[in-house]
Amino acid sequence: MRTAIVSGVGPLEGLGAQLCLRFASLGLHVLAAGRTDSKLQAVVDAIKAAGGSGQAVVADATSEADTERLFNLAGDDLALAIYNTGNNTPGRIADMSSEYFENSWRVCCFGGFLFGRAAIQRFGSGGGTLIFTGASASLRGRENFGAFNSSKGALRNLAQAMAKEYGRDGVHVGHVVVDGPIGGEKIKKGLPEYAAKLGDEGMINIDGIVDGYVYLYQQPRQAWSFELDVRTSLEKW
Ligand SMILES: NC(=O)c1ccc[n+]([C@@H]2O[C@H](COP(=O)([O-])OP(=O)(O)OC[C@H]3O[C@@H](n4cnc5c(N)ncnc54)[C@H](OP(=O)(O)O)[C@@H]3O)[C@@H](O)[C@H]2O)c1
Repeated sequence: MRTAIVSGVGPLEGLGAQLCLRFASLGLHVLAAGRTDSKLQAVVDAIKAAGGSGQAVVADATSEADTERLFNLAGDDLALAIYNTGNNTPGRIADMSSEYFENSWRVCCFGGFLFGRAAIQRFGSGGGTLIFTGASASLRGRENFGAFNSSKGALRNLAQAMAKEYGRDGVHVGHVVVDGPIGGEKIKKGLPEYAAKLGDEGMINIDGIVDGYVYLYQQPRQAWSFELDVRTSLEKW
C-alpha cells in the first residue's frame, strides 16, 4: 500500500484532518501527524470507520528528530507528503518579541524545510508529490500580519525552489494558496462571532480545498501545476 504523510493535523473539521480522510479513501495508508494525540486518534478512527488505513504520529513539525522519525515510519513506498502546519501569528511589528517572530518562521518555514527535505530524500525512483499549504499571507505583506506574511512568503519561495530543483527527479511540488477563512473548526469554534458574520458563503469550503490537493496529486507528469488558489466568490482580493 502506498503511503501519504500529512503534517499539521488537528480537529476533525479542519483541513489537515480532511486531507487525511480523503487520501485514505483513495487507497493510501495515511500517517496523520500533529502535536495532540487525542485529535490524531479521532482522525485515524474516522479513517478506519470508513474502511481506510491510517496511523497517528505525534510529532512537532519544528523538530528535526520528530520529522525524521515520522518519515522513517512511512516505509519505502511514500507517494504523497503534505505540509499543512502553519498557525496564524497576528501582531504589530513594534510590539512583537523576537521569539514570537522566530517561532512563526519555525512553524511555517523551517518546518517546511525539514519536511520537504525528508520527503525528497525518501521518494523512490518513481518520484512523489509534495504539497504545501499556503494562505493569503503567502503572496503579500499586510499590516498586523508581518510575522505570518514573512514566514508564509518564505515557505512559498522554498516550495518553488524545491519544485525547480527536484522536478526532473519526478518530485511534483505544489503550493495551495488558501485565500481567506476556512469554514472549519478553527474559525467556527475559535472565532464564532467572526464566523457568524461571514456565514457559510463567506468561508472557504474544506471539501473544495481538498479537491485541489487531489487534483495536484493526480496530475500527469506532462501537465504539472505548481500553484493553485482557492477563495469564496465573495472574497475581495
Ligand atoms: N484556518 C484558516 O482560516 C486558514 C486560512 C488560510 C490558510 N490556512 C492555512 O491552512 C493550514 C491549516 O490550518 P487550519 O487553521 O485549518 O488548521 P487544521 O488544518 O485544522 O489543523 C492544523 C493543525 O496543525 C497542528 N500544528 C500546529 N503547530 C504544529 C507543529 N509545530 N507541529 C505539528 N503540528 C502542528 C495544530 O494542532 P495541535 O495544536 O493539536 O498540534 C493544528 O490544529 C495552515 O497552513 C494555515 O496557515 C488556514
